[in-house]
Amino acid sequence: MDTLKLGQSRIMNFLSGLGGLTMGSRLRRWLQNPGKILQGTNITTGQIVVEVGCGPGFFTLDAARMIGDSGRLIAIEPLSDFVDKVRDKVEKAGLKNVEVLKRDALNTGLEDNSVDLVLLFGVVPFPTLPLSKLLPEMHRILKTDGTLAVWLFPTTFGVPTAILKSGLFSEIGKKNGVYSYHYREETV
Ligand SMILES: C[S@@+](CC[C@H](N)C(=O)[O-])C[C@H]1O[C@@H](n2cnc3c(N)ncnc32)[C@H](O)[C@@H]1O
Repeated sequence: MDTLKLGQSRIMNFLSGLGGLTMGSRLRRWLQNPGKILQGTNITTGQIVVEVGCGPGFFTLDAARMIGDSGRLIAIEPLSDFVDKVRDKVEKAGLKNVEVLKRDALNTGLEDNSVDLVLLFGVVPFPTLPLSKLLPEMHRILKTDGTLAVWLFPTTFGVPTAILKSGLFSEIGKKNGVYSYHYREETV
């Protein structure tokens, strides 16, 4: 499936835009405080953070503020409308540490071992983000002391077990609903 091509489709953008109204709503902010959820990760000033599937940017601005000007947030999203929306929000918020990439997270194009923290927040499982391809790509870009943070909604869908079974990550713990995993050296 060509996710980037799909991300250009008018019907996909229209349908996702409807979903985005809920995903970015005030009611959701009230029910699911993004700052509190992010505090369940080891996010800290100066980190290089990748947010997979940022959608309308529910977590993006809070995450960017938490890493500060010395950090860099790379938000990856294939849908054009969401990309435009988040770029607009970032500009209006005056944030200089965010890049929104119109890209498929299965092929980020980022350098090996270059990222401190990957956020998989509200994105797995998703038909265009199979864990069998996503996890090796996240493992490739993470630094050897990096962290994979996963927030699952509304249930875990067996994702924590699948992550451990991949052999690429080992679990550190769970806080504020976020599962955190250490990068694990691959054994041949
Ligand atoms: C359920 S939404 C969640 C959005 C956001 N993380 C949130 O919690 O509000 C899933 C997002 O993942 C994006 N997505 C789907 N396939 C993707 C892929 N291959 N690479 C990056 N993002 C993808 C979708 O376009 C959508 O914006």
